Amino acid sequence: MLREPRNISQYLDQSLFCVSGAKAVSGDGQDLKGGVRRKNLAVFISGGGSNFRSIHQAILKGSVQGEIVVLVTNKPGCGGADYARDNNIPVILFSNMKEKPDSLSADDLVTTLRRYKVDFILLAGYLKLIPLELVRAYSRSILNIHPSLLPAFGGKGYYGMKVHQAVIASGARYSGPTIHFVDEHYDTGRILAQRVVPVLANDTANELAARVLQQEHQLYVEVAEALCEERLVWREDGVPLIRNKINPSDYN
Ligand code: GRF
Repeated sequence: MLREPRNISQYLDQSLFCVSGAKAVSGDGQDLKGGVRRKNLAVFISGGGSNFRSIHQAILKGSVQGEIVVLVTNKPGCGGADYARDNNIPVILFSNMKEKPDSLSADDLVTTLRRYKVDFILLAGYLKLIPLELVRAYSRSILNIHPSLLPAFGGKGYYGMKVHQAVIASGARYSGPTIHFVDEHYDTGRILAQRVVPVLANDTANELAARVLQQEHQLYVEVAEALCEERLVWREDGVPLIRNKINPSDYN
């Protein structure tokens, strides 16, 4: 039995709660396609949310067999939260309790996500460390996208343009996004997918960021498709792999 989080409605965007609160209990497995239940996704963001939007658009087009049942953010005024409101996706505010003592606790967030029957959590430009309670509750089910080829240029302090500036300054000839599972540290979880882009001789950080971001949008959609189609497999040594859709004995 799920414990009801205390006063959860105060952390939901009020304008949305009435409109789309019913979504909280959707996704009971009725939507079977090819024997696979549609997956419920939670997306966490702190900014513009272009990755969030591209995944949502892929769902609307039907390529991702899932639904974004809730958006979690520490920045309620960010562009991604506006997009969620416009698309009737419930928005939950989650801040560090040290900064805002009256904020939702990590345990209450876990309870809330369970209430939404969340299968996978996708971090897409979420700048806060994920609390241990959540990492433990959603073991092997939280993914993050990082704009460099991890394990290079990752860890605390490597975010936004700082990543691309460091890549250019290093002289690396290639960069690109990494999607990895989330553990209790920044950018150290198991790598699931990567895409390579060239770093050009005259690149500015903004130019490189734009080239990487274009690939991020494609890669996150491909990974979301695979998750929802249950094509994720774990190698014996703990490395996650994606089974190829066309030829299931190949891995991406
Ligand atoms: C992306 O570059 C992602 O790799 C990083 O944060 C950025 C988010 O961009 N984690 P957006 O908000 O999805 O546009």
